[in-house]
Amino acid sequence: MRTLVHLSDLHFGRVDYSVVEPLVEKVNEVKPDVVVVSGDLTQRARSQQFKEAREFLDRLPKPQIIVPGNHDVPMHNAYARFFKGLNKYKRYITDDLEPFYSDTEIAVLGLNTARRFTIKYGRVNEDQIAAIRERLCAFGDEVTKIIVTHHPFDLPEGGDENELVGRARLAMETIAVCGADVLLAGHLHLSHTGESSARYKIAGHSALVVSAGTATSTRGRGESNSFNVLRIKHPFINVERLSWAAESARFTPSSTEHFKHTPDGWTRVPDEMAAEIVYSDEKTIAPPTDS
Ligand SMILES: [Fe+2]
Ligand SMILES: [Fe+2]
Repeated sequence: MRTLVHLSDLHFGRVDYSVVEPLVEKVNEVKPDVVVVSGDLTQRARSQQFKEAREFLDRLPKPQIIVPGNHDVPMHNAYARFFKGLNKYKRYITDDLEPFYSDTEIAVLGLNTARRFTIKYGRVNEDQIAAIRERLCAFGDEVTKIIVTHHPFDLPEGGDENELVGRARLAMETIAVCGADVLLAGHLHLSHTGESSARYKIAGHSALVVSAGTATSTRGRGESNSFNVLRIKHPFINVERLSWAAESARFTPSSTEHFKHTPDGWTRVPDEMAAEIVYSDEKTIAPPTDS
């Protein structure tokens, strides 16, 4: 089994500080194999905001797969936007804009979808589509292939199509050929899970699409702060959402969904069947016997 913590839209500079310490504690308690952060680490791409984000990340388990969001590119200073772009992100967070992790059970690829020429929207380019092919296609079905972007490949019902990552359809053809299983994103400040086949009709392929809400920002679009924990044991994935409960001042489970890989892609497992799925690798240890 592999456990991923998926955080998004931290927005240092516009953070509810009362949730930060309990978040650090909870993420460490989960003991994830990988921590994913899907962009918008800062509110305005300022040095102080990146420093705070860096201190926060330093307190979380590693490895970490981090991608920038549109807020990590300077917005209102045109000179900085066009000539400095992601310089501060690279200085404080990571200069790797295509982070990658793999082991015998999962492969996780991060792609930067933030762009200088658009303040809010994002896209993938052909080099990034080639990276998906190079990094992920070689893995067999037993390895769960995960792609992390800031801008999402799917939306909750009624969402604005402009928020989708640009060139999503083109990318999805390669994602399908490589059999990528899970697409993690943020940007919407709304939690959402869906199957890619609802939007992209590609025979025999349906990736699980997961958007995380904002983990620490004060701008929750009506949702309390939250993050996701994914437990992966092929052919099953459990997506658990932990949401901030102000009354107990803790992140507590607010939903749990189970998905199974089938010849047509990832499909939802009904709740009554989910109880029988065993994700843990822990073996039962026989009690000592008297001799
Ligand atoms: Fe955001
Ligand atoms: Fe964003």
